[in-house]
Amino acid sequence: MPCSKRFPLPPLASIPPQIACVTDYESYAQERVEAGSWAYLNSAAADQLTRRSNRCALDAIRLLTRNMMPMRGGHTQLDLFGTTYAHPIFIAPVAYHRLVHPDGELATALAAQAMQALMVLSTLSSIALEEVAASTAAPLWFQLYLQPEKAQTRTLVSRAEAAGYRALVVTIDAPITGLRNVEQRAGFVLPGHICAANLRGMPSPPAHTAAPGTNPIFGSALVQAMPTWEDLAWLVSITRLPVLAKGVLNPKDAEDAMAAGVAGIIVSNHGGRVLDTLPATIEALPAVAQAIGGKVPILFDGGIRRGTDIVKVLALGANAVLVGLPIIHGLAAAGATGVAHVLHMLRTELEMAMMLCGCRNLGEINCDVLWQP
Ligand code: FNR
Ligand code: LAC
Repeated sequence: MPCSKRFPLPPLASIPPQIACVTDYESYAQERVEAGSWAYLNSAAADQLTRRSNRCALDAIRLLTRNMMPMRGGHTQLDLFGTTYAHPIFIAPVAYHRLVHPDGELATALAAQAMQALMVLSTLSSIALEEVAASTAAPLWFQLYLQPEKAQTRTLVSRAEAAGYRALVVTIDAPITGLRNVEQRAGFVLPGHICAANLRGMPSPPAHTAAPGTNPIFGSALVQAMPTWEDLAWLVSITRLPVLAKGVLNPKDAEDAMAAGVAGIIVSNHGGRVLDTLPATIEALPAVAQAIGGKVPILFDGGIRRGTDIVKVLALGANAVLVGLPIIHGLAAAGATGVAHVLHMLRTELEMAMMLCGCRNLGEINCDVLWQP
């Protein structure tokens, strides 16, 4: 197929030897994605302060070596909700993978299978959840945006259950299919050949513009339809799958989510895409971990770019991490091979960092690996 305007350059056929870490993928990705889509993918809210702080705060933490410890029998396995995962590096839910590669989520899921990685599929995936599930042996969770009508949410939940998804991740920090601020900032309109495949045939979400003379946001139908903690408890009651709440920074949200019956928490600021000037996720993690008190597992995302980041996050109380943009950059640059390579580099870096910090398994990672001046 000739290289269309949709994809300025074709995906790489092999991995350039100079790619040595996951951020090296960014420039190869940018050359291969149409400018409007790139702006949508890489934007964050307002002045992007939160997005930048996700990285700065992780960089500011130092690790401390612990040498000559026995490493025989080392591994990175973890158990979550009855499944053993080979490592704690999961693929974050990201909308519309076909914006960056013609095979979209199918390529990502193939890479997940090859790298034994859990993939969280977005409600806004560009390929239907059934088709993704049928294409891969990778473990899958489904990210759910609670829909304005309960019947629509119920339909999505039944479909995810029937297709074999093992958990539901409810994103609570971007109500409805929020994020219009990001789209607006990027001046982004979804190209005609890409759609939210799971929502095909469902009524469109309520308007996010308000009638003249009313409050510009509070007056919109979108806000009237916003979900609450009661809706989360309802969701937990209608599914047999474990439900995780994604987008927790405030310990009070962690408590309310647990009261609603969630099986896990994802500490996240949505990559800085929703509300600017929120804390970096790593800054928010310790207080949330304290509120959870080990009752349910904690996952983490926002700015994970190195294996050392993962050690820091696990030391401060998380059980696993999700990775967003680097996966998309790998996908744009080199399809399934690029995604698999991104996961491979993170896995390798994680094991190297664990070994040099004297940790033979994830359970041995604690505050002792952090440098305290
Ligand atoms: C996202 N994210 C997201 N989250 C979610 O719950 N549902 C979604 O559909 C999307 N879509 C989405 C699109 C794009 C382009 C990006 C960059 C992100 C947020 C995502 O799951 C995750 O929280 C952040 O991306 C994590 O930060 P890093 O790893 O990208 O720094
Ligand atoms: C985003 C939404 C879709 O971050 O969650 O773009």
